[in-house]
Parts: sequence; structure tokens; C-alpha cells
Amino acid sequence: MEALATFLIDLSPDDMARRLHDALTVYVDAMRYPRGTEGQRAGMWLEHTRRLGWKAVAAVDTDTPPGEQPSAEQVAAAPLLGIAYGYCGAPDQWWQQQVVSGLHRIGMPADEISQLMSSYFELTELHIHPNAQGRGLGEALARRLLTGRGEAHVLLSTPEIIGEANRAWRLYRRLGFTDVIRGYHFAGDPRAFAILGRSLPL
Ligand SMILES: CC(C)(COP(=O)(O)OP(=O)(O)OC[C@H]1O[C@@H](n2cnc3c(N)ncnc32)[C@H](O)[C@@H]1OP(=O)(O)O)[C@@H](O)C(=O)NCCC(=O)NCCS
Repeated sequence: MEALATFLIDLSPDDMARRLHDALTVYVDAMRYPRGTEGQRAGMWLEHTRRLGWKAVAAVDTDTPPGEQPSAEQVAAAPLLGIAYGYCGAPDQWWQQQVVSGLHRIGMPADEISQLMSSYFELTELHIHPNAQGRGLGEALARRLLTGRGEAHVLLSTPEIIGEANRAWRLYRRLGFTDVIRGYHFAGDPRAFAILGRSLPL
């Protein structure tokens, strides 16, 4: 069998549109959501590509021999192992509105809320296909996505898990993310989420 080599790449909005189905399949398999969830998310992921500061990165498997760089054609044809993207937070975004109302509810002073929300990168999605998890790819994608950002902070939400006992939590803690809000319920979702954040640069 030919050895596969994993590469990290940036995706343009066009690359994301072209690879949307594969990216959503990685997401659905990683999150263990039922098949069919892909279709519900497609429009939103495409809309996100048009947001200010949008950036996406991916991990792909190529059959390039060890030590060689893959050609553009090899990269374009290489299957996706992982996907991550985010964008600059803004007041007209539903997620920011939800987080702001949660911050008011936990009693954060208004000036601190404005300070936090005025300059942050939302790490919106980060997923590694189950077959490729546990090799450090999630951390590598997160670091690539967060490198060179102009925002003062990065914020994300992740489902609450007892004991913070999953790879996502271990990764975020290792990267220095701290609690912003715990046990938060986004409108229309019965699950509890944590909002985590840290200052940038990493
Ligand atoms: C969360 C997720 C993105 C993390 O990605 P990952 O590639 O699996 O994990 P990491 O990059 O953190 O890799 C760390 C693991 O790889 C191992 N590893 C192997 N080689 C490594 C290397 N060179 N560098 C770093 N870690 C390495 C570590 O020992 C660690 O193993 P452990 O978790 O068993 O302790 C991924 O597991 C995932 O998609 N999970 C399901 C979806 C999800 O929860 N997404 C986030 C929702 S908000």
C-alpha cells in the first residue's frame, strides 16, 4: 500500500464551496450527528465564507512520496481529513447576540462585555474525521487558523461534557482557553454549552 502524507492547507471561499460536501461529512462524522445533517448546514457554511475575516484551513491526505511537496492538482484531489474555520465576530451575528445576553445574565459589567466583544475571532468549527483523530491534527489546524490574526481574543463554544473528558476539551485547555460562560443554553438548543476564550496571539 502506498503511504499517505498529510498536509495542512488554507481554503479559499471557492475551495470551501467545492469541498463543501466533504467538509460537512467530516463534521457530521466527527460530531456523530445523524447523516442528513450536512444538508441543513450547507447554506450556513457558505454564508459564513462571506463574513469579514473568514479563514478556513484543512488537513488532506495525499499520496505524495515522503519528503516531496504535492502538486496543486494532488492537493485539489486529496481527501479531506479535517476542517476548521472562523471569522471576525460582529454585532449583527446571532452567536454574538447569544453570548452577549449570556454575559449580561452572569453579571459581567457592560464595559467588560463591550471590550471582549469589540475584537474577537470566532473559532466556529473544528473537526477531524474519527479515523484521523488523536494524531495532533486538531491542534495543528487550530494553531494554523489562529496564527496572524488581528483580533485581541478568540472565542468558541463547545458542548459541556462531564469532567471535560473529551479531546475537544483537552485540546482547548492545552491551548490555554479559559471559561467565559459555563452551562449556557443557546436559544432553540436543549444542550448545555461552554463558551471558552483566550487572548491572541496564542
Ligand atoms: C476535537 C478534535 C478537533 C481534536 O482533534 P484531534 O486531532 O483528535 O486531537 P489533537 O490535535 O488535540 O490531538 C491530541 C491527541 O493526539 C495525540 N498526538 C499524537 N501525535 C501528536 C502530535 N504530533 N502532536 C500533538 N498530539 C499528538 C496526543 O497524544 C493526543 O491524544 P489524546 O487526546 O488521546 O491525549 C477532534 O477530536 C474532533 O473532531 N472531535 C469530534 C468533534 C468535536 O468535538 N469538535 C469540536 C467541537 S466544538
